[in-house]
Amino acid sequence: GRVAVLYGGTAAERPVSLISGAAVLKALQEAGVDAHRFDPAERDIVEVQGYDRAFIVLHGRGGEDGVIQGVLEQFQVPYTGSGVMASAIGMDKARTKQLWVGCGLPTPTYRRLYAGMDFAAVVADLGLPLMVKPSREGSSIGMAKVYSVEDLAKAYEVAAKHDSEVIAEHFIQGSEYTIAILGDRALPVIRMVPATDFYDFEAKYSRNDTQYNIPSGLLAEDEAELQRLSLEAFRVLGARGWGRIDAMRDADGRFWLLEINTVPGMTDHSLVPMAAAACGIDFTQLVLTILAQATR
Ligand code: DAL
Ligand code: MG
Repeated sequence: GRVAVLYGGTAAERPVSLISGAAVLKALQEAGVDAHRFDPAERDIVEVQGYDRAFIVLHGRGGEDGVIQGVLEQFQVPYTGSGVMASAIGMDKARTKQLWVGCGLPTPTYRRLYAGMDFAAVVADLGLPLMVKPSREGSSIGMAKVYSVEDLAKAYEVAAKHDSEVIAEHFIQGSEYTIAILGDRALPVIRMVPATDFYDFEAKYSRNDTQYNIPSGLLAEDEAELQRLSLEAFRVLGARGWGRIDAMRDADGRFWLLEINTVPGMTDHSLVPMAAAACGIDFTQLVLTILAQATR
């Protein structure tokens, strides 16, 4: 049947989604799937009823947060990836962390930030440096690494322009990893080594000096432990189909889960395609596998 490839959208990550979506659409069409571009920013979403399935490649709010998923449920159109609840929680870093903490999974300590609060107390609590993040944003948009109380106040102002909820998170000094999940398995771990101060928007999409190590360089038992943690983190959120967990490893070798992406990037700089390729799954097989799991 006809497949709507949903990409573009109105979120801040629209430019990323346009690239991810075009890559997915091209691969599906080349594999003989009757796939069509569907940009919810340009078309009335009710038209999605004319399709048999939807492949969601929308990043950010309105596309990755359960809203579109709910519409597709209502229209009884099977769709790829997580359902309404996991999408909504997964888009929200603060609530993802609350759920993980509740399940005994390791995630860095954080505080909600509010206008006019005592930022010095936050610094006393979390230490420096710390990360400031809009709770419901992606691709590091609105994020900052903060080295002083004065910087924290400024970083809060910037992040608050992107979301009404902002968090400050204890910074884990160490190395950064990502774990792609496909179906019920974790793919090989990737270690990212940005040339920038942290793995920010530039490091993700425009710079060519970000290093991606796959194999990750972890000992086999540590890699297995991180994969196990990531799968558990994925499952306790009720996520399904595919996704990606971002994590850190501190100087003592402990792993810390940062966040989940329920619609991870699919650009040529993106991590899920890289992890899939490392275990012999090419981009076409990857998108066909994700599509085959479409449900409602
Ligand atoms: N939010 C971006 C698309 C990612 O996680 O890959
Ligand atoms: Mg994200």
